[in-house]
Amino acid sequence: MYTQLQLRDAARPPVNVSTLRKMKADGEKIACVTCYDASFAVLVDDAGADLALVGDSLGMVIQGHDTTVPVTMEDVIYHSRVVARGLYRPFLVADMPFMSYSSKEQALANAVRLMQEGGAKMVKLEGGAGQIEIVEFLAGHDIPVCAHLGLKPQSVHKIGGFRVQGREGEQAERMAGDALALERAGADIVLLECIPGELGGHITRELSVPVIGIGAGPDVDGQILVLYDLLDITSGRKPRFVRNFMDGAGSPLAALQRYVAAVRDRSYPAPEHCF
Ligand code: KIV
Repeated sequence: MYTQLQLRDAARPPVNVSTLRKMKADGEKIACVTCYDASFAVLVDDAGADLALVGDSLGMVIQGHDTTVPVTMEDVIYHSRVVARGLYRPFLVADMPFMSYSSKEQALANAVRLMQEGGAKMVKLEGGAGQIEIVEFLAGHDIPVCAHLGLKPQSVHKIGGFRVQGREGEQAERMAGDALALERAGADIVLLECIPGELGGHITRELSVPVIGIGAGPDVDGQILVLYDLLDITSGRKPRFVRNFMDGAGSPLAALQRYVAAVRDRSYPAPEHCF
């Protein structure tokens, strides 16, 4: 079946890397959200999100760990597979867990598993200059890659906590250089977490691939939030960039629709969500 050809002219064709590049070129904001199961995947799709990420944040919001470090390949494959069953239009990205890409060969074998067993259309990995060879290797094998810079939760024990990155000039310059190098190595998306809004805007203007932000200010090409944060399911103190879209929404679907609308009309993130 040539499903791709049949879907191309559908009213809501599935999002692919070309769609995302065109959205950047047209200045249309990309609405992204994490997702971990089939029921929420249906809502994410119905709400009009463009991209769903099976993030290793599942280790924290689903499994109850303090960090994402304990998440395994089996965990992400399982959640990606169930999310894939509920999605039609959004582009499905799956996280490569901690230490699942410590060599080129291991990265390729695990990325193939996420795509073949998990149904992912792109893999995401955390890293800067140290991951350039790996990104190049994956891209050389036609694996779509999202490179995650800024706050890298898998490095939490090395950096000593979840905190804003790129505040100092030297670190900011290094991050901007790494983003460019990752794009040249073949990354199709760059994701920036928890950085000053000014740096988010600067990196976005420098890159030709879409830049998605979480706590990276309003001047990136798209936004992503952890589903359980935007639905106010996560208990306790939340990061500054989180907005509770459930407040006054009435249903999870309405909350997701409000989130997508706020990303598209640029009312989210507001100054109080930025660094
Ligand atoms: O794991 C995750 O959910 C993520 C997002 C915070 C972007 O990487």
